[in-house]
Amino acid sequence: MSGSRRRFLQQVSAAGLAWGTGRGVAQMVMPMPAVGADEKPRVMLHSLELTPFVDALPMPERVTPVGPHALRVVMREIHAKVHRDVPATRMWSYGSTPVGPLIEGRSGRAMRVEWVNSLPQKHFLPVDYSLHGCGRELPEVRAVAHLHGARVPTKDDGYPDDWFAPGQSRTCHYPLEQESATLWYHDHAMGLNRLNIYAGLQGMMLLRDEREDSLGLPSGKYEIPLVLYDRNFSVDGQLYYPTSGIPGHPWVPEFDGDAILINGKIRPYVEVEPRLYRLRVLNGANSRFFALSMEKGLAFWQVGSDQGLLSGPVKVGHLNLAPAERADLLIDFSGAAGENVHLKNGGLEILQFRVGRPARTAGGKSEADSLLPAKFPAAFRPMVRTDETSATVTRTITLDEALNGRGDSMLMVLNRKRWMEPVTEKPRLNSTEVWEFVNLTEDTHPIHLHLVRFQVLDRRTFDVFAYQNAKGLRYLAEAMKLEANEMGWKDTVQCPPGMITRIITKFEGYTGKYLYHCHILEHESNDMMRPFEVVAEA
Ligand code: C2O
Ligand code: CU
Ligand code: CU
Repeated sequence: MSGSRRRFLQQVSAAGLAWGTGRGVAQMVMPMPAVGADEKPRVMLHSLELTPFVDALPMPERVTPVGPHALRVVMREIHAKVHRDVPATRMWSYGSTPVGPLIEGRSGRAMRVEWVNSLPQKHFLPVDYSLHGCGRELPEVRAVAHLHGARVPTKDDGYPDDWFAPGQSRTCHYPLEQESATLWYHDHAMGLNRLNIYAGLQGMMLLRDEREDSLGLPSGKYEIPLVLYDRNFSVDGQLYYPTSGIPGHPWVPEFDGDAILINGKIRPYVEVEPRLYRLRVLNGANSRFFALSMEKGLAFWQVGSDQGLLSGPVKVGHLNLAPAERADLLIDFSGAAGENVHLKNGGLEILQFRVGRPARTAGGKSEADSLLPAKFPAAFRPMVRTDETSATVTRTITLDEALNGRGDSMLMVLNRKRWMEPVTEKPRLNSTEVWEFVNLTEDTHPIHLHLVRFQVLDRRTFDVFAYQNAKGLRYLAEAMKLEANEMGWKDTVQCPPGMITRIITKFEGYTGKYLYHCHILEHESNDMMRPFEVVAEA
Protein backbone atom coordinates (compact mmCIF):
# COMPACT_ATOMS: atom_id res chain seq x y z
CA MET A 1 0.00 0.00 0.00
CA SER A 2 1.35 3.40 -0.88
CA GLY A 3 1.94 6.09 1.67
CA SER A 4 -0.77 8.23 0.16
CA ARG A 5 -3.19 5.36 0.14
CA ARG A 6 -2.51 4.65 3.78
CA ARG A 7 -3.11 8.28 4.58
CA PHE A 8 -6.30 8.17 2.60
CA LEU A 9 -7.55 5.18 4.55
CA GLN A 10 -6.72 6.97 7.78
CA GLN A 11 -8.76 9.93 6.63
CA VAL A 12 -11.60 7.64 5.80
CA SER A 13 -11.51 6.02 9.22
CA ALA A 14 -11.35 9.42 10.82
CA ALA A 15 -14.48 10.28 8.86
CA GLY A 16 -16.15 7.40 10.64
CA LEU A 17 -15.82 4.54 8.19
CA ALA A 18 -14.38 1.31 9.46
CA TRP A 19 -12.86 -1.22 7.12
CA GLY A 20 -12.98 -4.86 8.12
CA THR A 21 -9.96 -6.80 6.98
CA GLY A 22 -10.73 -10.13 8.56
CA ARG A 23 -13.46 -11.88 10.42
CA GLY A 24 -12.01 -11.12 13.86
CA VAL A 25 -11.66 -7.46 13.11
CA ALA A 26 -15.08 -7.00 11.61
CA GLN A 27 -16.85 -8.58 14.53
CA MET A 28 -15.39 -5.99 16.84
CA VAL A 29 -16.37 -3.11 14.61
CA MET A 30 -19.73 -1.54 15.23
CA PRO A 31 -21.61 0.08 12.37
CA MET A 32 -20.42 3.65 12.07
CA PRO A 33 -21.93 6.61 10.31
CA ALA A 34 -20.52 7.64 6.95
CA VAL A 35 -21.48 10.38 4.60
CA GLY A 36 -23.28 9.49 1.39
CA ALA A 37 -23.83 11.37 -1.85
CA ASP A 38 -26.62 13.22 -0.13
CA GLU A 39 -24.15 14.12 2.65
CA LYS A 40 -26.42 12.57 5.27
CA PRO A 41 -24.77 10.23 7.75
CA ARG A 42 -25.22 6.56 6.92
CA VAL A 43 -24.71 3.43 8.92
CA MET A 44 -22.48 1.00 7.09
CA LEU A 45 -23.14 -2.65 6.49
CA HIS A 46 -20.42 -5.07 7.55
CA SER A 47 -20.69 -7.91 5.14
CA LEU A 48 -18.63 -10.29 7.27
CA GLU A 49 -21.42 -10.25 9.82
CA LEU A 50 -23.81 -11.70 7.24
CA THR A 51 -24.34 -15.46 7.08
CA PRO A 52 -22.27 -16.61 4.09
CA PHE A 53 -23.34 -19.05 1.36
CA VAL A 54 -27.11 -18.61 1.70
CA ASP A 55 -27.69 -17.31 -1.83
CA ALA A 56 -27.26 -19.32 -5.01
CA LEU A 57 -24.73 -17.90 -7.46
CA PRO A 58 -26.74 -16.04 -10.11
CA MET A 59 -26.03 -17.08 -13.68
CA PRO A 60 -26.34 -14.18 -16.09
CA GLU A 61 -28.88 -14.58 -18.86
CA ARG A 62 -27.16 -15.88 -22.04
CA VAL A 63 -27.90 -14.16 -25.29
CA THR A 64 -26.69 -15.21 -28.72
CA PRO A 65 -27.43 -12.60 -31.36
CA VAL A 66 -28.62 -14.19 -34.60
CA GLY A 67 -29.44 -12.68 -37.94
CA PRO A 68 -28.88 -9.13 -39.14
CA HIS A 69 -30.73 -7.46 -36.30
CA ALA A 70 -28.84 -5.53 -33.70
CA LEU A 71 -28.92 -6.90 -30.19
CA ARG A 72 -30.74 -4.35 -28.04
CA VAL A 73 -29.15 -3.75 -24.64
CA VAL A 74 -30.99 -1.35 -22.36
CA MET A 75 -29.25 0.44 -19.49
CA ARG A 76 -31.69 0.91 -16.68
CA GLU A 77 -32.12 1.27 -12.97
CA ILE A 78 -32.97 -1.96 -11.14
CA HIS A 79 -33.36 -3.10 -7.58
CA ALA A 80 -31.79 -6.42 -6.66
CA LYS A 81 -30.95 -8.37 -3.52
CA VAL A 82 -27.24 -8.84 -2.96
CA HIS A 83 -27.84 -11.11 0.02
CA ARG A 84 -30.79 -12.88 1.67
CA ASP A 85 -30.61 -10.62 4.73
CA VAL A 86 -29.98 -7.28 3.02
CA PRO A 87 -32.79 -5.10 1.63
CA ALA A 88 -32.84 -4.71 -2.15
CA THR A 89 -30.15 -2.43 -3.58
CA ARG A 90 -30.64 0.24 -6.20
CA MET A 91 -28.27 -0.42 -9.12
CA TRP A 92 -27.81 0.33 -12.77
CA SER A 93 -27.54 -2.55 -15.19
CA TYR A 94 -27.35 -3.50 -18.86
CA GLY A 95 -30.21 -5.89 -18.18
CA SER A 96 -32.65 -6.96 -15.52
CA THR A 97 -30.02 -8.54 -13.26
CA PRO A 98 -26.98 -7.05 -11.47
CA VAL A 99 -24.47 -8.30 -14.03
CA GLY A 100 -25.55 -7.69 -17.63
CA PRO A 101 -26.42 -10.52 -20.03
CA LEU A 102 -23.67 -12.92 -21.06
CA ILE A 103 -23.34 -12.27 -24.78
CA GLU A 104 -22.02 -15.15 -26.89
CA GLY A 105 -20.19 -14.29 -30.08
CA ARG A 106 -18.27 -16.12 -32.82
CA SER A 107 -14.92 -15.03 -34.18
CA GLY A 108 -15.28 -13.43 -37.60
CA ARG A 109 -19.03 -13.01 -37.26
CA ALA A 110 -19.75 -9.32 -36.86
CA MET A 111 -22.25 -8.24 -34.24
CA ARG A 112 -24.31 -5.12 -33.95
CA VAL A 113 -25.45 -3.91 -30.58
CA GLU A 114 -27.89 -1.11 -29.94
CA TRP A 115 -26.97 0.41 -26.59
CA VAL A 116 -29.97 2.22 -25.15
CA ASN A 117 -29.57 4.69 -22.32
CA SER A 118 -32.73 4.43 -20.21
CA LEU A 119 -31.04 5.53 -17.02
CA PRO A 120 -32.54 8.21 -14.78
CA GLN A 121 -31.60 11.87 -15.33
CA LYS A 122 -29.86 12.15 -11.96
CA HIS A 123 -26.89 10.16 -10.68
CA PHE A 124 -27.20 8.51 -7.28
CA LEU A 125 -23.46 8.36 -6.60
CA PRO A 126 -21.19 11.32 -5.75
CA VAL A 127 -20.30 12.97 -9.06
CA ASP A 128 -17.07 14.97 -8.95
CA TYR A 129 -17.79 17.99 -11.14
CA SER A 130 -14.20 19.19 -10.81
CA LEU A 131 -12.86 16.29 -12.91
CA HIS A 132 -11.97 16.84 -16.53
CA GLY A 133 -14.97 16.33 -18.81
CA CYS A 134 -17.37 16.24 -15.91
CA GLY A 135 -18.68 19.79 -15.65
CA ARG A 136 -22.07 20.89 -14.36
CA GLU A 137 -23.03 22.16 -17.81
CA LEU A 138 -23.27 18.54 -19.08
CA PRO A 139 -26.18 16.15 -18.59
CA GLU A 140 -25.54 14.65 -15.17
CA VAL A 141 -25.99 11.07 -16.39
CA ARG A 142 -23.92 10.07 -19.39
CA ALA A 143 -22.99 6.62 -20.62
CA VAL A 144 -21.06 4.94 -23.41
CA ALA A 145 -20.32 1.23 -23.68
CA HIS A 146 -16.84 -0.06 -24.48
CA LEU A 147 -16.20 -3.67 -25.44
CA HIS A 148 -12.95 -4.28 -23.58
CA GLY A 149 -10.61 -6.61 -25.43
CA ALA A 150 -12.31 -6.24 -28.80
CA ARG A 151 -10.66 -4.84 -31.89
CA VAL A 152 -13.18 -2.23 -32.96
CA PRO A 153 -13.12 0.77 -35.33
CA THR A 154 -12.68 3.92 -33.32
CA LYS A 155 -16.21 5.24 -33.88
CA ASP A 156 -17.66 2.19 -32.11
CA ASP A 157 -14.96 1.72 -29.47
CA GLY A 158 -16.66 3.69 -26.74
CA TYR A 159 -14.36 6.69 -26.74
CA PRO A 160 -14.89 8.52 -23.40
CA ASP A 161 -16.24 11.66 -25.10
CA ASP A 162 -18.77 9.66 -27.17
CA TRP A 163 -21.22 9.46 -24.29
CA PHE A 164 -24.94 9.86 -24.74
CA ALA A 165 -27.62 10.97 -22.32
CA PRO A 166 -30.75 9.22 -21.02
CA GLY A 167 -33.32 8.86 -23.78
CA GLN A 168 -30.62 8.39 -26.43
CA SER A 169 -29.10 5.28 -27.96
CA ARG A 170 -26.17 4.21 -30.15
CA THR A 171 -25.77 1.25 -32.44
CA CYS A 172 -22.23 -0.12 -32.57
CA HIS A 173 -20.72 -2.49 -35.07
CA TYR A 174 -18.26 -5.07 -33.73
CA PRO A 175 -16.36 -6.95 -36.46
CA LEU A 176 -15.00 -9.51 -33.95
CA GLU A 177 -12.21 -10.44 -36.32
CA GLN A 178 -10.05 -11.89 -33.59
CA GLU A 179 -9.54 -15.15 -31.75
CA SER A 180 -11.72 -16.56 -28.98
CA ALA A 181 -11.47 -14.61 -25.73
CA THR A 182 -13.26 -13.43 -22.62
CA LEU A 183 -14.41 -9.90 -23.44
CA TRP A 184 -15.98 -7.43 -21.09
CA TYR A 185 -18.42 -4.65 -21.84
CA HIS A 186 -18.51 -1.76 -19.44
CA ASP A 187 -19.19 1.93 -19.26
CA HIS A 188 -16.50 4.37 -20.36
CA ALA A 189 -18.10 7.83 -20.02
CA MET A 190 -15.59 10.57 -19.33
CA GLY A 191 -15.31 11.38 -15.62
CA LEU A 192 -18.19 9.08 -14.70
CA ASN A 193 -17.32 5.51 -15.59
CA ARG A 194 -15.96 4.67 -12.13
CA LEU A 195 -19.40 5.57 -10.76
CA ASN A 196 -21.35 4.00 -13.61
CA ILE A 197 -19.49 0.71 -13.31
CA TYR A 198 -19.79 0.82 -9.51
CA ALA A 199 -23.53 1.32 -10.04
CA GLY A 200 -23.44 -1.90 -12.08
CA LEU A 201 -22.85 -1.15 -15.76
CA GLN A 202 -20.81 -4.18 -16.79
CA GLY A 203 -21.23 -7.59 -18.39
CA MET A 204 -19.28 -10.34 -20.14
CA MET A 205 -19.03 -11.40 -23.75
CA LEU A 206 -17.60 -14.79 -24.64
CA LEU A 207 -16.11 -14.96 -28.08
CA ARG A 208 -15.60 -18.49 -29.42
CA ASP A 209 -13.84 -19.98 -32.41
CA GLU A 210 -13.10 -23.33 -34.01
CA ARG A 211 -9.85 -23.88 -32.23
CA GLU A 212 -11.58 -23.53 -28.91
CA ASP A 213 -14.42 -25.82 -30.04
CA SER A 214 -11.92 -28.50 -31.05
CA LEU A 215 -10.52 -28.71 -27.51
CA GLY A 216 -13.76 -29.99 -26.01
CA LEU A 217 -13.49 -27.83 -22.90
CA PRO A 218 -16.41 -28.06 -20.44
CA SER A 219 -19.41 -26.21 -21.85
CA GLY A 220 -23.07 -25.47 -21.17
CA LYS A 221 -23.80 -25.71 -17.46
CA TYR A 222 -20.22 -26.84 -16.88
CA GLU A 223 -18.90 -23.44 -17.92
CA ILE A 224 -19.50 -20.81 -15.25
CA PRO A 225 -18.92 -17.06 -15.67
CA LEU A 226 -17.65 -15.39 -12.48
CA VAL A 227 -17.67 -11.60 -12.39
CA LEU A 228 -15.86 -10.56 -9.20
CA TYR A 229 -16.11 -7.09 -7.66
CA ASP A 230 -16.39 -5.31 -4.34
CA ARG A 231 -18.82 -2.76 -2.97
CA ASN A 232 -19.66 -0.80 0.18
CA PHE A 233 -23.23 -0.83 1.42
CA SER A 234 -25.12 1.06 4.07
CA VAL A 235 -27.20 -1.12 6.40
CA ASP A 236 -30.29 -0.39 4.35
CA GLY A 237 -28.58 -2.17 1.46
CA GLN A 238 -27.73 0.89 -0.61
CA LEU A 239 -24.47 1.37 -2.46
CA TYR A 240 -22.01 3.67 -0.80
CA TYR A 241 -19.15 5.12 -2.82
CA PRO A 242 -16.49 6.72 -0.59
CA THR A 243 -15.74 10.43 -0.85
CA SER A 244 -12.63 12.39 0.10
CA GLY A 245 -14.33 14.86 2.43
CA ILE A 246 -12.70 17.69 0.47
CA PRO A 247 -15.50 20.14 -0.44
CA GLY A 248 -16.07 20.19 -4.19
CA HIS A 249 -13.61 17.35 -4.84
CA PRO A 250 -15.14 14.07 -3.68
CA TRP A 251 -12.73 11.98 -5.83
CA VAL A 252 -10.79 9.33 -3.94
CA PRO A 253 -7.66 7.70 -5.36
CA GLU A 254 -8.74 4.09 -4.73
CA PHE A 255 -10.47 1.91 -2.16
CA ASP A 256 -11.35 -1.66 -1.29
CA GLY A 257 -15.07 -2.24 -0.78
CA ASP A 258 -16.29 -4.02 2.33
CA ALA A 259 -18.23 -6.75 0.53
CA ILE A 260 -17.07 -9.05 -2.26
CA LEU A 261 -19.73 -9.95 -4.79
CA ILE A 262 -19.82 -12.56 -7.51
CA ASN A 263 -22.39 -12.13 -10.30
CA GLY A 264 -24.38 -9.87 -7.98
CA LYS A 265 -24.38 -11.77 -4.68
CA ILE A 266 -22.25 -11.46 -1.57
CA ARG A 267 -20.47 -14.77 -0.88
CA PRO A 268 -22.86 -17.08 -2.77
CA TYR A 269 -22.79 -20.86 -3.22
CA VAL A 270 -23.04 -22.97 -6.34
CA GLU A 271 -23.86 -26.65 -6.71
CA VAL A 272 -21.49 -28.54 -8.95
CA GLU A 273 -21.03 -32.15 -10.05
CA PRO A 274 -17.83 -34.03 -9.22
CA ARG A 275 -16.27 -33.41 -12.58
CA LEU A 276 -14.32 -30.88 -14.58
CA TYR A 277 -15.60 -27.28 -14.84
CA ARG A 278 -14.55 -24.25 -16.77
CA LEU A 279 -14.64 -20.93 -14.89
CA ARG A 280 -14.52 -17.68 -16.83
CA VAL A 281 -13.23 -15.24 -14.24
CA LEU A 282 -13.20 -11.45 -14.59
CA ASN A 283 -12.00 -8.89 -12.09
CA GLY A 284 -14.69 -6.26 -12.57
CA ALA A 285 -13.80 -4.25 -9.45
CA ASN A 286 -12.97 -0.53 -9.51
CA SER A 287 -9.64 -0.83 -7.74
CA ARG A 288 -9.42 -4.11 -5.81
CA PHE A 289 -6.93 -6.81 -6.77
CA PHE A 290 -8.00 -10.39 -6.13
CA ALA A 291 -5.66 -13.07 -4.80
CA LEU A 292 -7.53 -16.26 -5.60
CA SER A 293 -6.93 -19.82 -4.51
CA MET A 294 -8.88 -23.01 -3.90
CA GLU A 295 -9.13 -24.95 -0.68
CA LYS A 296 -8.24 -28.54 -0.01
CA GLY A 297 -5.37 -28.78 -2.40
CA LEU A 298 -7.52 -28.11 -5.45
CA ALA A 299 -5.64 -26.25 -8.14
CA PHE A 300 -6.67 -24.11 -11.06
CA TRP A 301 -5.57 -25.16 -14.49
CA GLN A 302 -5.38 -21.88 -16.30
CA VAL A 303 -6.16 -22.30 -19.98
CA GLY A 304 -6.60 -18.69 -21.02
CA SER A 305 -5.85 -15.09 -20.07
CA ASP A 306 -7.23 -11.72 -21.25
CA GLN A 307 -6.97 -12.36 -24.97
CA GLY A 308 -7.82 -16.01 -25.19
CA LEU A 309 -6.20 -19.39 -24.87
CA LEU A 310 -2.71 -19.94 -23.56
CA SER A 311 -0.47 -22.29 -25.51
CA GLY A 312 -1.56 -25.04 -23.10
CA PRO A 313 -2.93 -25.63 -19.59
CA VAL A 314 -0.86 -24.17 -16.74
CA LYS A 315 -1.28 -25.37 -13.17
CA VAL A 316 -1.76 -22.38 -10.86
CA GLY A 317 -2.10 -22.52 -7.08
CA HIS A 318 -2.56 -18.79 -6.48
CA LEU A 319 -3.95 -16.39 -9.01
CA ASN A 320 -3.50 -12.65 -8.80
CA LEU A 321 -6.04 -10.72 -10.84
CA ALA A 322 -5.87 -6.95 -11.25
CA PRO A 323 -8.93 -4.92 -12.27
CA ALA A 324 -9.87 -5.82 -15.89
CA GLU A 325 -7.78 -9.00 -16.02
CA ARG A 326 -9.50 -12.22 -16.99
CA ALA A 327 -8.62 -15.84 -16.33
CA ASP A 328 -10.04 -18.88 -18.05
CA LEU A 329 -9.73 -21.73 -15.55
CA LEU A 330 -10.44 -25.41 -15.30
CA ILE A 331 -11.11 -27.02 -11.94
CA ASP A 332 -11.52 -30.71 -11.38
CA PHE A 333 -14.03 -31.38 -8.61
CA SER A 334 -13.98 -35.17 -9.06
CA GLY A 335 -11.75 -35.63 -6.03
CA ALA A 336 -14.07 -33.60 -3.78
CA ALA A 337 -17.35 -35.49 -4.24
CA GLY A 338 -19.81 -34.84 -1.40
CA GLU A 339 -17.75 -31.99 0.04
CA ASN A 340 -17.96 -28.22 0.19
CA VAL A 341 -14.90 -26.47 -1.17
CA HIS A 342 -14.34 -22.76 -1.28
CA LEU A 343 -12.83 -20.26 -3.63
CA LYS A 344 -10.82 -17.88 -1.49
CA ASN A 345 -9.63 -14.32 -1.89
CA GLY A 346 -6.62 -14.12 0.41
CA GLY A 347 -7.93 -15.74 3.60
CA LEU A 348 -11.62 -15.10 2.91
CA GLU A 349 -13.94 -17.70 1.43
CA ILE A 350 -15.88 -15.88 -1.29
CA LEU A 351 -17.67 -18.69 -3.12
CA GLN A 352 -18.79 -22.10 -1.91
CA PHE A 353 -18.82 -25.02 -4.31
CA ARG A 354 -21.18 -27.76 -3.10
CA VAL A 355 -19.84 -30.80 -4.84
CA GLY A 356 -22.44 -33.52 -5.41
CA ARG A 357 -21.97 -37.28 -5.23
CA PRO A 358 -20.85 -39.02 -8.40
CA ALA A 359 -23.58 -40.50 -10.57
CA ARG A 360 -23.07 -44.29 -10.65
CA THR A 361 -22.91 -45.87 -14.07
CA ALA A 362 -23.83 -49.48 -14.86
CA GLY A 363 -20.30 -50.68 -14.20
CA GLY A 364 -20.36 -49.08 -10.75
CA LYS A 365 -17.67 -46.64 -11.75
CA SER A 366 -17.88 -42.92 -11.56
CA GLU A 367 -18.22 -41.28 -14.93
CA ALA A 368 -16.43 -38.19 -13.81
CA ASP A 369 -12.92 -39.41 -14.24
CA SER A 370 -11.68 -36.25 -15.84
CA LEU A 371 -8.01 -36.18 -15.22
CA LEU A 372 -5.91 -33.19 -15.98
CA PRO A 373 -3.94 -32.45 -17.97
CA ALA A 374 -3.97 -35.88 -19.59
CA LYS A 375 -7.42 -35.27 -21.03
CA PHE A 376 -6.31 -32.25 -23.03
CA PRO A 377 -3.73 -31.73 -25.70
CA ALA A 378 -0.55 -30.27 -24.28
CA ALA A 379 -0.69 -27.52 -26.89
CA PHE A 380 -3.87 -25.50 -27.41
CA ARG A 381 -2.41 -23.18 -29.98
CA PRO A 382 1.05 -22.16 -31.05
CA MET A 383 2.08 -19.14 -29.03
CA VAL A 384 4.68 -17.45 -31.15
CA ARG A 385 6.51 -14.92 -29.02
CA THR A 386 6.88 -11.66 -30.88
CA ASP A 387 10.51 -11.06 -31.72
CA GLU A 388 11.74 -7.91 -30.02
CA THR A 389 13.81 -6.97 -33.02
CA SER A 390 10.62 -6.61 -35.06
CA ALA A 391 9.75 -3.48 -33.06
CA THR A 392 10.48 -0.26 -34.91
CA VAL A 393 9.72 2.08 -32.02
CA THR A 394 10.25 1.88 -28.26
CA ARG A 395 8.18 4.25 -26.16
CA THR A 396 9.02 5.02 -22.56
CA ILE A 397 5.95 5.92 -20.53
CA THR A 398 6.21 7.02 -16.93
CA LEU A 399 3.46 6.36 -14.39
CA ASP A 400 3.31 9.34 -12.05
CA GLU A 401 1.33 10.36 -9.01
CA ALA A 402 0.94 13.94 -7.77
CA LEU A 403 0.57 14.55 -4.05
CA ASN A 404 -0.60 17.68 -2.29
CA GLY A 405 1.30 19.25 0.60
CA ARG A 406 -0.18 16.75 3.04
CA GLY A 407 0.83 13.83 0.89
CA ASP A 408 -2.68 13.05 -0.31
CA SER A 409 -2.91 11.75 -3.81
CA MET A 410 -4.43 14.39 -6.06
CA LEU A 411 -3.75 13.14 -9.53
CA MET A 412 -2.25 10.20 -11.39
CA VAL A 413 -0.91 10.68 -14.88
CA LEU A 414 0.96 8.98 -17.70
CA ASN A 415 4.13 10.60 -18.99
CA ARG A 416 3.36 13.68 -16.90
CA LYS A 417 0.61 14.54 -19.33
CA ARG A 418 -3.09 14.88 -18.78
CA TRP A 419 -5.83 13.34 -20.86
CA MET A 420 -6.71 16.51 -22.78
CA GLU A 421 -3.17 17.31 -23.89
CA PRO A 422 -2.38 16.64 -27.56
CA VAL A 423 -1.73 13.08 -28.69
CA THR A 424 1.92 12.14 -28.35
CA GLU A 425 1.78 8.42 -29.22
CA LYS A 426 1.14 7.87 -32.92
CA PRO A 427 2.01 4.32 -33.94
CA ARG A 428 1.76 3.36 -37.60
CA LEU A 429 -0.80 0.80 -38.67
CA ASN A 430 0.73 -2.70 -38.79
CA SER A 431 3.93 -1.61 -37.09
CA THR A 432 5.28 -3.33 -33.99
CA GLU A 433 6.30 -1.31 -30.95
CA VAL A 434 7.70 -1.90 -27.49
CA TRP A 435 6.10 0.16 -24.72
CA GLU A 436 7.94 0.30 -21.43
CA PHE A 437 6.02 1.51 -18.40
CA VAL A 438 8.28 3.14 -15.83
CA ASN A 439 6.40 3.05 -12.55
CA LEU A 440 7.44 5.96 -10.31
CA THR A 441 4.53 5.52 -7.89
CA GLU A 442 4.06 3.17 -4.96
CA ASP A 443 1.11 1.27 -6.44
CA THR A 444 0.72 -1.49 -8.99
CA HIS A 445 -1.15 -0.11 -12.01
CA PRO A 446 -2.96 -2.42 -14.42
CA ILE A 447 -2.34 -0.68 -17.75
CA HIS A 448 -4.74 -1.42 -20.58
CA LEU A 449 -4.48 -0.56 -24.27
CA HIS A 450 -7.54 -0.39 -26.47
CA LEU A 451 -7.54 -1.97 -29.97
CA VAL A 452 -4.53 -4.25 -29.58
CA ARG A 453 -3.50 -7.48 -27.96
CA PHE A 454 0.04 -7.60 -26.67
CA GLN A 455 2.62 -9.83 -25.09
CA VAL A 456 4.41 -8.98 -21.89
CA LEU A 457 8.17 -8.99 -22.43
CA ASP A 458 9.54 -8.62 -18.93
CA ARG A 459 9.72 -6.65 -15.68
CA ARG A 460 12.87 -5.20 -14.22
CA THR A 461 13.63 -3.40 -10.96
CA PHE A 462 15.31 -0.02 -11.31
CA ASP A 463 16.51 2.83 -9.12
CA VAL A 464 13.49 5.14 -8.87
CA PHE A 465 15.34 7.81 -6.90
CA ALA A 466 18.13 8.05 -9.45
CA TYR A 467 15.60 8.18 -12.27
CA GLN A 468 13.63 10.98 -10.65
CA ASN A 469 16.78 12.95 -9.97
CA ALA A 470 17.93 12.92 -13.57
CA LYS A 471 20.70 10.42 -12.88
CA GLY A 472 19.42 8.18 -15.65
CA LEU A 473 18.11 4.66 -15.73
CA ARG A 474 19.88 2.27 -13.39
CA TYR A 475 18.63 -1.30 -13.30
CA LEU A 476 18.96 -3.00 -9.94
CA ALA A 477 18.56 -6.57 -11.12
CA GLU A 478 18.22 -8.78 -14.12
CA ALA A 479 14.82 -8.85 -15.84
CA MET A 480 12.36 -11.16 -14.11
CA LYS A 481 11.14 -14.25 -15.89
CA LEU A 482 7.41 -14.28 -16.54
CA GLU A 483 5.13 -16.93 -15.10
CA ALA A 484 3.78 -19.38 -17.66
CA ASN A 485 0.24 -17.97 -17.34
CA GLU A 486 1.48 -14.55 -18.42
CA MET A 487 3.02 -15.78 -21.66
CA GLY A 488 -0.24 -15.56 -23.64
CA TRP A 489 -1.98 -12.63 -25.33
CA LYS A 490 -2.99 -9.87 -22.96
CA ASP A 491 -4.68 -6.48 -23.06
CA THR A 492 -4.05 -5.42 -19.47
CA VAL A 493 -0.71 -5.72 -17.69
CA GLN A 494 0.19 -5.27 -14.05
CA CYS A 495 2.96 -2.69 -13.66
CA PRO A 496 4.39 -3.08 -10.15
CA PRO A 497 6.09 -0.19 -8.31
CA GLY A 498 9.80 0.29 -8.75
CA MET A 499 9.80 -1.69 -11.97
CA ILE A 500 9.85 -1.17 -15.68
CA THR A 501 7.29 -3.40 -17.32
CA ARG A 502 7.68 -3.92 -21.05
CA ILE A 503 5.12 -5.06 -23.58
CA ILE A 504 5.32 -5.64 -27.32
CA THR A 505 2.41 -5.15 -29.69
CA LYS A 506 1.51 -4.85 -33.33
CA PHE A 507 -0.99 -2.09 -34.11
CA GLU A 508 -3.31 -4.09 -36.32
CA GLY A 509 -6.84 -3.36 -37.36
CA TYR A 510 -7.75 0.26 -37.83
CA THR A 511 -6.34 3.73 -37.94
CA GLY A 512 -7.81 6.35 -35.65
CA LYS A 513 -7.93 7.58 -32.10
CA TYR A 514 -7.77 5.08 -29.25
CA LEU A 515 -6.61 5.24 -25.67
CA TYR A 516 -4.59 3.54 -23.00
CA HIS A 517 -5.09 3.90 -19.31
CA CYS A 518 -4.74 2.47 -15.85
CA HIS A 519 -7.71 0.20 -15.15
CA ILE A 520 -7.98 1.26 -11.54
CA LEU A 521 -11.05 3.29 -12.39
CA GLU A 522 -10.29 6.02 -9.86
CA HIS A 523 -6.85 6.51 -11.40
CA GLU A 524 -8.23 6.47 -14.92
CA SER A 525 -10.67 9.26 -14.18
CA ASN A 526 -8.06 11.58 -12.65
CA ASP A 527 -6.16 11.47 -15.03
CA MET A 528 -4.26 8.27 -15.77
CA MET A 529 -5.59 7.94 -19.29
CA ARG A 530 -4.08 9.13 -22.55
CA PRO A 531 -5.08 8.98 -26.19
CA PHE A 532 -3.00 7.29 -28.84
CA GLU A 533 -3.61 7.52 -32.55
CA VAL A 534 -2.91 4.82 -35.10
CA VAL A 535 -1.80 6.55 -38.28
CA ALA A 536 -1.67 5.20 -41.84
CA GLU A 537 1.22 3.02 -42.94
CA ALA A 538 4.18 4.89 -44.36
CU1 C2O B 1 -11.87 -1.82 -19.82
CU2 C2O B 1 -10.69 1.57 -21.59
O1 C2O B 1 -11.31 -0.19 -20.80
CU1 CU C 1 -10.65 -1.55 -23.29
CU1 CU D 1 -3.31 3.10 -11.56
